[in-house]
Amino acid sequence: MRETTLTPQDFIYPMFVVPGKGVKNPISSMPDCFQESVDNAVKTAKEVFSLGIPAIILFGIPENKDEKATSAYDENGIVQTAVKAIKDALPDLVIITDVCLCEYTSHGHCGIIKNGKIDNDSTLEVLALEALSHARAGADIVAPSDMMDGRVGKIRKVLDDEGFTDVVILSYAAKYASAFYGPFREAAQSAPAFGDRRSYQMDPANRREALREVALDIEEGADIVMVKPALAYLDIISDVKKSFHVPVAAYNVSGEYSMVKAAAQLGWLNEEAVMMEILTSIKRAGADLILTYFAKKAAKLLKS
Ligand code: PBG
Ligand code: ZN
Repeated sequence: MRETTLTPQDFIYPMFVVPGKGVKNPISSMPDCFQESVDNAVKTAKEVFSLGIPAIILFGIPENKDEKATSAYDENGIVQTAVKAIKDALPDLVIITDVCLCEYTSHGHCGIIKNGKIDNDSTLEVLALEALSHARAGADIVAPSDMMDGRVGKIRKVLDDEGFTDVVILSYAAKYASAFYGPFREAAQSAPAFGDRRSYQMDPANRREALREVALDIEEGADIVMVKPALAYLDIISDVKKSFHVPVAAYNVSGEYSMVKAAAQLGWLNEEAVMMEILTSIKRAGADLILTYFAKKAAKLLKS
């Protein structure tokens, strides 16, 4: 009589790619996660695919960062190179790219700064160039995570104008300003050098605002909408699932992963049991897709 069943097909595995060859740097706050050069990322992608996980999402750590995030849309940039190599090796693995500027800006903010503030509209131009360069490299899905207003519409228009009408947009639609992103910022080397992200990410105290954010993104052309983080926001996942008729993704973020790993290392929690309970709860709340650093481990467990 079980109502909710997990399968490896529910998962999307996040990966961090760095320049170089033979690189596999452990991320200290995220045990079993690595920054990998493209050659190793291809190997990991093969493992992911063989476990029945249908998709990965790529984050890039570039060689150079600057004020204007120019390496974000370099056709030979780190993500663009990784997309080409992984597509070549695994044409049937769905490749999602994270579209944001924080990994590429010297100040670590998700947008372009003008007069000490994040400037929404000039950021849209750069995000669109970035998404287009990912599509040209062969990305199947682009996933804007910046939370600027109007970016989904802008990206959709540029992709369509350039002939990429089949490239899907997965928008980080309800993305909260969360302390659970802490470990990710080590992994992606993207912590803001000053201030915080509260001028563009959502207030964790707000519930109805999530529905307004999701509605806007769907109107602008989002094909899949995401709620992020997942575990402390199961009510939002449920609301979004009930209110709209598009696929809903949920991001089981770095801090949700690290706290389970840390407690398990101390012998305070049973990692496998807690992992499956958390992932099941996210699906039960309404997620059709779950982005999770546990994807490989959970898929192995489900297969055994
Ligand atoms: C970049 C981005 C972040 C995450 C995904 N894309 C960090 C942030 O907004 O600070 C977080 C993912 C995680 O914590 O696992 N905009
Ligand atoms: Zn960002």
